[in-house]
Amino acid sequence: MASKIVTFTLNGREVEVIAKPLTTLQTLLREKLGYTATKAGCKQGGCGSCTVLVNGAPMLSCLLPVEDVEGQAVTTLEGITPRDGLHPLQSAFFENYAIQCGYCTPGMIVIAKALLDRNPSPSREEIVDALSGNLCRCTGYEPIIHAIDDAARQLAGR
Ligand code: FES
Ligand code: FES
Repeated sequence: MASKIVTFTLNGREVEVIAKPLTTLQTLLREKLGYTATKAGCKQGGCGSCTVLVNGAPMLSCLLPVEDVEGQAVTTLEGITPRDGLHPLQSAFFENYAIQCGYCTPGMIVIAKALLDRNPSPSREEIVDALSGNLCRCTGYEPIIHAIDDAARQLAGR
């Protein structure tokens, strides 16, 4: 199979790449475009560390061929982070000690962003459910749940 030219929007900017067949979005982001916030944990769909948003929906970039994002809008943690500081989710993760080694953190924040965008006031159960595909080997999850709840309250001005 021949390489393909793929055009998509990455964090609000149009990019055009030449992708070999079955190159994953994860590999393209990390190894070709330098967007290393997207992590490469299991590379087989089991950990969630590679989560990105495609048209606002969370997707596992390790399972996503680059050609499938033709014409789509991809957002990584870099695209969520404001130029002049931190997103409230990032601040809440720091303030709630929800980061230890940090390897899961980008995927956790991306999945939490998708949750709060569609449900600004999630219950604890809804937060737990949203995180069900994202593994953390360090925190025991409670600080992460608290951080997302805290960020939701801040964003809602509560
Ligand atoms: S690296 Fe994609 S799910 Fe683990
Ligand atoms: S903070 Fe280490 S894997 Fe979550």
